[in-house]
Parts: sequence; structure tokens; C-alpha cells
Amino acid sequence: MRPNPVDPVRALVALGSNLGDRAARLHEALARLGAVPGIRVLRSSSFREYAFVGDGPQQGPFLNAVAELEVRLAPEALLGVFKELERAAGRILPAQRNHPRPLDLDLLTFGAERLDMAGLVVPHPRLHERAFVTEPLAELGIAAASIPNTVRPRLVRDPREFAELCTSWTAGGCTVGLVPTMGALHQGHASLLRRARSECTRVAATIFVNPLQFGPREDLAAYPRDLEGDLRLCAAEGVDAVFAPEVQQMYDPGFCSHVAVGAAAEGMEGAARPGHFGGVATVVARLFAIARPHRAYFGQKDAQQLAVILRMNRDLGFPIEVVRCATVREPDGLAMSSRNVYLGSADRKAATVIHRSLRAAQAAFAAGTRDRDRLVALVRDTIGAEPRATIDYVELRSEPELLPLPPGPVEDGRMLVTARFTDGVRPVRLLDNMGLRHD
Ligand code: PAJ
Repeated sequence: MRPNPVDPVRALVALGSNLGDRAARLHEALARLGAVPGIRVLRSSSFREYAFVGDGPQQGPFLNAVAELEVRLAPEALLGVFKELERAAGRILPAQRNHPRPLDLDLLTFGAERLDMAGLVVPHPRLHERAFVTEPLAELGIAAASIPNTVRPRLVRDPREFAELCTSWTAGGCTVGLVPTMGALHQGHASLLRRARSECTRVAATIFVNPLQFGPREDLAAYPRDLEGDLRLCAAEGVDAVFAPEVQQMYDPGFCSHVAVGAAAEGMEGAARPGHFGGVATVVARLFAIARPHRAYFGQKDAQQLAVILRMNRDLGFPIEVVRCATVREPDGLAMSSRNVYLGSADRKAATVIHRSLRAAQAAFAAGTRDRDRLVALVRDTIGAEPRATIDYVELRSEPELLPLPPGPVEDGRMLVTARFTDGVRPVRLLDNMGLRHD
């Protein structure tokens, strides 16, 4: 909520000058700002010289600084003050883009607010890319990466363009986080984007419904698609770029190289969906090769997929950190999934049995049960009591590799379940899993 304008708010402003007596302009601007009722200048960085960057006419270097203000004005009013000071310094407004200027004042942040009004986007969308902002900020002890990014995600269709964008980020010293998805984004995906946003200076989401991972009788054509909604969610999560190629752009007509996956893909989803994990590993390897991110984020929700990708990443030697993200659930425990929209209302209610069955196994383990058959039977019986659910498989596997457990009492493990529901718009297979010690 917008604070009352009389409540003091901390704001950061970038100052720049490359015309006339630059230092005098900046000193004068700070003095004048401090003299405005409702504004206090708390501190300023030193004045630093930077060469002009941009596509305007040839011009001299800038003197730049960043100052922290305490403001008791609305942001629009503060912007009005900035314009007034720029005019008083001799700048002709409206300014010609990228021409030399006696004084330039840019609002970087206004408290914790995200603003998007005509002529004013705060936090300033390009502040992270500009050394003349990030370095004075660092001098004040403020890391630019701690300021949220308000850039609208750039939509890229062409793999080469996406590769170049990611390369330019890395060359500029950014940490790149990749979040591969098939779109129809929900809060489960959003949690991956948020985690990436908090750990990386650049975040790219990929949206690609990958035909290689769908079997001939599977729901490729019917897979939910909503690019507009996905872009809105990505914008809200501060994603920098969305890579959404067409099938022919990802796989040209001669495409014929595939990643083969071994033991990690055996059983469970690997058995139910022959070829599925080969298709997943192939597209993920291709995305890794295009983007070459520092980190890539995957959900624990698709536990076997995660195990396959961790293995593939190691085996093929990508210098990428694969980050495991916890499963996000609806308030009633159902794991979020793009396919949940196809559940009929009765099935939607019944589907909570999966989570309940996993919790029951967790509780039994916590109470001392170490017999695998009893733990698996508990899950089977709980789901079996729900007539709308048909079990595909219930398996207890090792944590975190998901390999068959050694004989003897269970020390740790992960319970994996898939069940089918057939009463909705179309039949839905729901996957879920839970560690015996924690979700
Ligand atoms: P998709 O099903 O769109 O999922 C993209 C990512 O979001 C996966 O890493 C998945 O595990 C994660 N995710 C989905 N639901 C989640 C939830 N409720 N909580 C936490 N994370 C969740 O998985 C795929 O796409 C594809 O197979 C892909 C890896 C993109 C390859 O095509």
C-alpha cells in the first residue's frame, strides 16, 4: 500500500551532468534538493566520471553520483521537483534523448514501491546495467542486485537471439538463472522464478511444450497454453526474458540427436511413459547449451525428472548448478500442476487423497515404522479408499537419487505416487511425492 505522503520514505536518486561545470551542477542540485520542503538529503556518493554510453551524438564524459533522500512527498511530486531542478540548471525540456545535458536526475527507488506510471517506472528498469549507477550505489553499501528488477520480460523466439542475450548477460558480469517450463504457469512455477530472482541477477524463463517428451497417445495437442497470462506472471516475478520458440526453431527438420537416459529413468514415470525422459533430457540439454546459465531451477514435484536432469547434468558435464525447489501445494495439499485445470469438481476434491496418503506414510515413519511394505501399503490403502482414484504406482525409493532401496529397515526414502482421475474434461494423471523425513 502507498504510504501516506507525509510518512518519510527513503528514495535513491541518480545524478549526472556532462555539460558546463559538472561538479558545480551536482553540488548545486544536492543543495537545492535539500532545500525543498519535504526532502532531506541523507548522504551522497562521491562524484565519479564515466564515459557516455548510448546512441546519441558524440559527447563528453559524465560526472555521476547517487544520493539517498528522505522524502515526505508523493513520487509524482518528487518527479516534478526533479524536472524543475533540471530546468533551473539550464536543461531544455522536453529533453532530446541522449543529448548532452547540464543535469539529469533519475529516481531509482522510492521506498519498497513498484511504480509504473507514464514517464516513471520505479525501481528504475535499467539501473542494474549501468556502472555509473551500480558503482556509486556500492560505495553507499547498497548492492544493485538487492533492488528488484522492473524490466518487462523480453520475449525471444529465435534460439540464436536467446543465446546471444544470455552471452551478453554473462559477459556483463551477471549471474544467469534459467527456469525451463512448458507454460500454463501457476504458483509452482512462480516459486521457481522467485527463487531464481533472489539468487541471480538475470532470470530467463523458457516456455516450450516439448513434443519429444509426449508419447503418441498423450496430451500434446491438448496441453494447456496461455502465453499472455504467462508473460504477465513473468513480469510480476521480475523475469528478464522469456524464451518461447516454435517447434521448428527448437528442432530443425534434420534434427536427429537425442540424449539417452539410463537407470535414473527406469520404472515409475519412465515405465509408464516410454521415451518421456529421453525427450525431457534432450530438450533440457538443448536449453542448457543455448542459454549456458549459471543455475537452472527445477521442482521437486517432478521428482524423477529432477533425478534424471541432475544425472544428465553431471554425466554430460554442464558447468551448471541444478537447483531443487520444494513442491508448492494448494491450501488443501494438492500439488499444483498445469493439468489440475482438467479435473472435474468431484475429482478435484477426491485428489487431495494423494497428499493425505503421503502424509500418512510420513507420520508412520515418524512414529517408528521402518518396514517398506507397510509404508507402501499404507499409501495404497489410503488412496484405495477413494473410489474416484486409480493408482498407477506407489514406490518407495532412495533419497535423493530415487534408486531402488537396499534391503532391510528403511532409513530414509521418498514415496512416489501416480494416480488417475477420469471424471473431468479429460482423464488426468496426477504425480506427487514426499520424503519420509520432509516434503
Ligand atoms: P512443467 O511441467 O511446466 O514444469 C516446469 C517446472 O516447474 C518443473 O521443474 C516442475 O517440476 C516445476 N513445477 C511444476 N509444478 C510445481 C509445483 N507444484 N511446485 C514446485 N515446482 C513445480 O517439467 C516440465 O515442465 C518439462 O518437463 C520441462 C522440464 C520444462 C522440459 O520440457
